[in-house]
Amino acid sequence: MNRTLAIIKPDAVASGKAGKILAHLENAGFTVRALRLARLTEAQAGEFYAVHAERPFYGELVEFMTSGPCMPMILEAEGAVPKLREVIGATDPAEAAEGTVRRLYAESKGRNAIHASDSDENAAREAGFFFAEADVLAIHA
Ligand code: CMP
Repeated sequence: MNRTLAIIKPDAVASGKAGKILAHLENAGFTVRALRLARLTEAQAGEFYAVHAERPFYGELVEFMTSGPCMPMILEAEGAVPKLREVIGATDPAEAAEGTVRRLYAESKGRNAIHASDSDENAAREAGFFFAEADVLAIHA
């Protein structure tokens, strides 16, 4: 089994779509291993998205991710990282395949409802950003 990190973003939490998105992920075969609500500070969002620091949309991205609560979670499935990226669809909802989370629930390329890790290495780094391994083990041991 493999794990990945997803974040239901502030747009989807604020518009009351978090439950529907969570159900979509469970129906797609993911098991929730950890889950919380978080309100990111500017420093936390900046660090989380540091890889995009030079991109023109970085300021907008940090502002959006700190605009309200988000819902980070650790999801488990066989091939979790590529599987979740397929289930959520392309970054831009207009380009996302029919039936994907972003096609169904995202507003725009920036306000796009959900984040998913892009590699096993980043999944581990991003999970550590929100959850202590001891907490995950304490629940599932
Ligand atoms: P995500 O995959 O979570 O991580 C990087 C984020 O940057 C991406 O989702 C989008 O929300 C955001 N992003 C990418 N391209 C653009 C863009 N052109 N304008 C605004 N935001 C963007």
